[in-house]
Amino acid sequence: MSDKTKKPLRSQGWFGREDRDGFMHRSWMKNQGYPHDLFDGRPIIGICNTWSELTPCNGHFREIAEWVKRGVYEAGGFPLEFPVMSLGETQLRPTAMLFRNLASMDVEESIRGNPMDGVVLLMGCDKTTPSLLMGAASCDLPTIGISGGPMLNGKYRGQDLGSGTGVWQMSEEVRAGRMSNADFIAAEAHMHRSKGSCMTMGTASTMASMVESLGMSLPGNAAIPAVDARRLTLAQLSGRRIVEMVKQDLKMSQILTRQAFENAVKVNAGIGGSTNAVIHLLALARRIGVDLALEDWDKLGSSVPCLVNLQPSGKYLMEDFFCAGGVPAVIRELGDAGLLNNDALTVNGKSLWENNQEAPCYNRDVIHAFADPFKDKAGIAVITGNLAPDGAVIKPSAATPSLLKHRGRAVVFSSIEDFHERINDENLDIDETCVMVLQNCGPKGYPGMAEVGNMPLPPKVLRKGITDMVRISDARMSGTAYGTVVLHTSPEAAAGGPLALVKDGDMIELDVPNRRLHLEVSDEELIRRRASWVPPEKPQRGWAKLYVEHVLQANQGADLDFLVGGSGAGVPRDSH
Ligand code: FES
Ligand code: MG
Repeated sequence: MSDKTKKPLRSQGWFGREDRDGFMHRSWMKNQGYPHDLFDGRPIIGICNTWSELTPCNGHFREIAEWVKRGVYEAGGFPLEFPVMSLGETQLRPTAMLFRNLASMDVEESIRGNPMDGVVLLMGCDKTTPSLLMGAASCDLPTIGISGGPMLNGKYRGQDLGSGTGVWQMSEEVRAGRMSNADFIAAEAHMHRSKGSCMTMGTASTMASMVESLGMSLPGNAAIPAVDARRLTLAQLSGRRIVEMVKQDLKMSQILTRQAFENAVKVNAGIGGSTNAVIHLLALARRIGVDLALEDWDKLGSSVPCLVNLQPSGKYLMEDFFCAGGVPAVIRELGDAGLLNNDALTVNGKSLWENNQEAPCYNRDVIHAFADPFKDKAGIAVITGNLAPDGAVIKPSAATPSLLKHRGRAVVFSSIEDFHERINDENLDIDETCVMVLQNCGPKGYPGMAEVGNMPLPPKVLRKGITDMVRISDARMSGTAYGTVVLHTSPEAAAGGPLALVKDGDMIELDVPNRRLHLEVSDEELIRRRASWVPPEKPQRGWAKLYVEHVLQANQGADLDFLVGGSGAGVPRDSH
């Protein structure tokens, strides 16, 4: 920096030196053709890219990065793009969630260990959003988020077809004998016909909406379709803005305050967002030092109406949401109703309210007015009881209202393999009044807490035209899924939670209005059962071993215990 009174930027710890190490830091970079003046102390912006051909939802990110670079150069910065582990929801086994924390470590160490003063996070497919936010939060540099945007609406034989949601629906139609397998397979190319992330209000769109409502992106980020030119415009403007943020030293911790998280929880209710946001925001809050608890989701969000009529809770898709006004229109409705912390600061230096108070809505069937909501009191409910001492969640907007209060006989599956083996058996003793219970699918149990909580129904129930039953597990479910599904039961079965002790024939009472989940088995009997409980085998090496030994329960965000908090972004010691 020419202005000697200003503190030099962090990247000058690498490039601002006249010695042997300065030579090495600059000289090797010059092999890419960068002129000497780019190292003169201007803001260096790391573009954290989750592009991968194995993460199809992020397959267009190299183009987005190029538009970010335009903006960075225009504003006088020096952009440097770097890859981090990319988590593709549809390809990674046993579940992308097993690697969310691993990817966050990659992000954190890549930021801290490299010469950069500000960070642009390119996020899309479900887990790429929390992993990047979490890793960056533990460094706390000036940071701006850009989401990849949703795919165009799926179209099949004249009908809209939503990512994920359509798969769950059609596969049950096939199992009920109402759709041919050939028609089912033919739908593949029609559901996903452009670049981008799932175009339902699944986890990707939910998390993009969380990025926007937390104030971590420019307004409008969540809903612009991936292939819409305005997505590239947003990328360019974000590139310009991050350079200013570095100059102002506007750090992530100034954006991610308790107020911002409260706003996000309420917006999640307003959009009918994914249950996965609960775990990801809890983990993110703990990285940045904000006190957010599972109960806050219920306290802050459960009475908030759902305004957005999008699959899986409703009918429309993200392209419709974008055209109707997107997240800004939702924020305006909730803000006008007095629900939001209007002063919460966002990355453009303005408050959430300054950004959104004039936001228009162009279609009230897609984005309802607060006074005429799509669904009343629709935010995520947190339920507790002797079956979930540390809580479980349910998304009432995606459930069958009549099942929210239900008492039924448990039919227990000890693993997802056990479930698949027996669910199609016509002799399985089950009917629509039963409660399906799935064990050992939590963070430690699966491991990685797979999205298997929305268990398919038995064919003999489906044939009656019944499409929902009460289901309880320690798993997650896809943000595109629906049903009366109790998830994230804590402690999980594999950690010795009471869920592990449920047996076939036990009676279970679900009472969402009273936030209760009760196993009608005496304490004495539960103690007897616990004495003969055998914990499942643990992984013996590698990442899975480290993960299982250190992963926290869902009600704490399922982060690793030693990753909670941050270490800042001080310049590490010399490498040579
Ligand atoms: Fe990648 Fe849905 S599978 S966003
Ligand atoms: Mg998913």
